[in-house]
Amino acid sequence: MDILKKLENYREEEEKLKWEGTFADYLDLLKEKPWVAQSAHSRVYNMIKDAGIEEVDGVKKYRFFSHQLFGLEEALEKLVEEYFHPAAKRLDVRKRVLLLMGPVSGGKSTLVTILKRGLEAYTRSDKGAVYAIKGCPMHEDPLHLIPQHLRADFYDEYGIRIEGNLSPLNTLRLEEEYGGRIEDVLVERIFFSEDKRTGIGTFSPSDPKSQDIADLTGSIDFSTIAEFGSESDPRAYRFDGELNKANRGLMEFQEMLKCDEKFLWHLLSLTQEGNFKAGRFALISADELIVAHTNETEYRSFISNKKNEALHSRIIVMPVPYNLKVSEEEKIYEKMIRESDVADVHIAPHTLKVAAMFTILTRLREPKRADIDLLKKMRLYDGKTVEGYNSQDIKDLKNEYQDEGMFGIDPRYVINRISSTIIRKEIKSINALDVLRSLKDGLDQHPSITEELKEKYLNFISLARKEYDEIAKKEVQKAFVYSYEESAKTLLDNYLDNVEAYCNKVKLRDPLTGEEINPDEKLMRSIEEQIGISENAKKAFREEILIRISAYARKGKRFDYYSHDRLREAIQKKLFADLKDVVKITTSTKTPDEQQLKKINEVVARLIDEHGYNSTSANELLRYVGSLLNR
Ligand SMILES: Nc1ncnc2c1ncn2[C@@H]1O[C@H](COP(=O)(O)OP(=O)(O)OP(=O)(O)O)[C@@H](O)[C@H]1O
Ligand SMILES: [Mg+2]
Repeated sequence: MDILKKLENYREEEEKLKWEGTFADYLDLLKEKPWVAQSAHSRVYNMIKDAGIEEVDGVKKYRFFSHQLFGLEEALEKLVEEYFHPAAKRLDVRKRVLLLMGPVSGGKSTLVTILKRGLEAYTRSDKGAVYAIKGCPMHEDPLHLIPQHLRADFYDEYGIRIEGNLSPLNTLRLEEEYGGRIEDVLVERIFFSEDKRTGIGTFSPSDPKSQDIADLTGSIDFSTIAEFGSESDPRAYRFDGELNKANRGLMEFQEMLKCDEKFLWHLLSLTQEGNFKAGRFALISADELIVAHTNETEYRSFISNKKNEALHSRIIVMPVPYNLKVSEEEKIYEKMIRESDVADVHIAPHTLKVAAMFTILTRLREPKRADIDLLKKMRLYDGKTVEGYNSQDIKDLKNEYQDEGMFGIDPRYVINRISSTIIRKEIKSINALDVLRSLKDGLDQHPSITEELKEKYLNFISLARKEYDEIAKKEVQKAFVYSYEESAKTLLDNYLDNVEAYCNKVKLRDPLTGEEINPDEKLMRSIEEQIGISENAKKAFREEILIRISAYARKGKRFDYYSHDRLREAIQKKLFADLKDVVKITTSTKTPDEQQLKKINEVVARLIDEHGYNSTSANELLRYVGSLLNR
């Protein structure tokens, strides 16, 4: 479909969504769809809930956020369960400003943007529909028209609680335009839009001397005073501050703690009492979610100031820490690259993973337990199996420190380094070594890194580099075997047959000649030696394997290559050891003979077809592994 046709369809869709009627019609609609009268907080919560919730390993995963925010499941669960959910139920937390607190580039603004874009879409859906008094600059809730003394009756009939008073402007309009006939007041469906300033506002502090409170609460329109005769005529007032425009929806308060106090007080009265003061009017009711964000340093200095004490109790702080999982960090980079100008560059496999390893290492604290080092901790946090440890160990590790996720390298730094690598290298292909080098060079320019920290970070870069070396070697060695999985499986089966015969003290049958033969001790040992199993320990190891096989069989599962980590490692090492010389010679020779050239081409082709390399990155990888094996 071409774009013009799509535009036309879009316009038609928009037309279909429109609704306009009298207040009486609106009441009919409420009978049918009572949810449209929900509060702003409740709408936000339902929007999140309606998108779907999965539960993974006891942690809730909200689909609403999961496409764009990675590795923040626990923080998001806390945010939804401790703020949005109770706020939707009209509990007290909704009367507080929501303050997202976290380290730089940790996704705070992204989180708020997701909420904004989400609301724009949600108000176009049936479940998220919002209605307002037509022609009201604050899109006031039509139910405010119902006078206080009738609200109890209204509740009995409709089951809907009304909060807030009719605004000065609509009080006047009701008299002047509708002759006091509430049932005739026109109501329309509205659609939130940040661009059109409907239901979504953003306030960001500028120079405190010149910034005017009008940005928040609107201002007198001097050109119309003559027409309406007085400054206190609400028609001579422009209700176009961010607080006005965000009514029924959400207002983002950027850099809240950098702001002048007088602005904060307005907010606090709004959140606390649900109303704010504008011009010379009675208090104006507003129903909106206020989200602010700040970093930890700012927050600490804010709370340490006695003057701000009264404000504390009116703010609810929710942490937005850095992600601590390597695989999720990779997704963050993928997303940021996709959204950037360098999206067409070839990034060799494992490049982002290795960068993520470095980043995550900078965000972790050294484990207190002696049996776990930083790399193991990193793997455990990432949900990888580390033999001998389980989910309880992960919980214990997390409990050791409370501030993990609040410090370390931010994702934007990594992306900037990746971009600068790309620009410097000029060819459209980068690999893990390029990125590690660039991350290292960048440390000198990073404004907030002390010498001591730099030392530590350099060490993490070399740890990540070592991890990469292992990955690179495995990758190449795998590509040298015609079918790696197949060979590993054959070797494993062969080993298991022999182990079984050995433990049961029976003979094996030669598949070709059919004659009985003893278990192949040499073969078994050549595998076991790979993981350091001594002659004395071999019997116990073999028996352990056999027990594992029967435990699997009891559960109806098949014991395979992935069932036993140590055995898998042994098989892999054995395969690689057999290959080592071929790989070593082939990858490092400067003048390959015909046979070697053929092999190299085969391996490059396999790296490209099966492992996601291009010819540049595949050749770089081979050369690198050649140099590693020759050290
Ligand atoms: N956990 C995460 N999941 C997905 N993207 C993330 C995550 N953390 C950071 N990002 C990405 O990093 C970039 C910076 O994030 P963002 O601007 O939201 O951070 P911030 O907390 O508002 O930072 P600042 O304190 O600098 O304002 C964005 O492109 C964002 O998408
Ligand atoms: Mg931000």
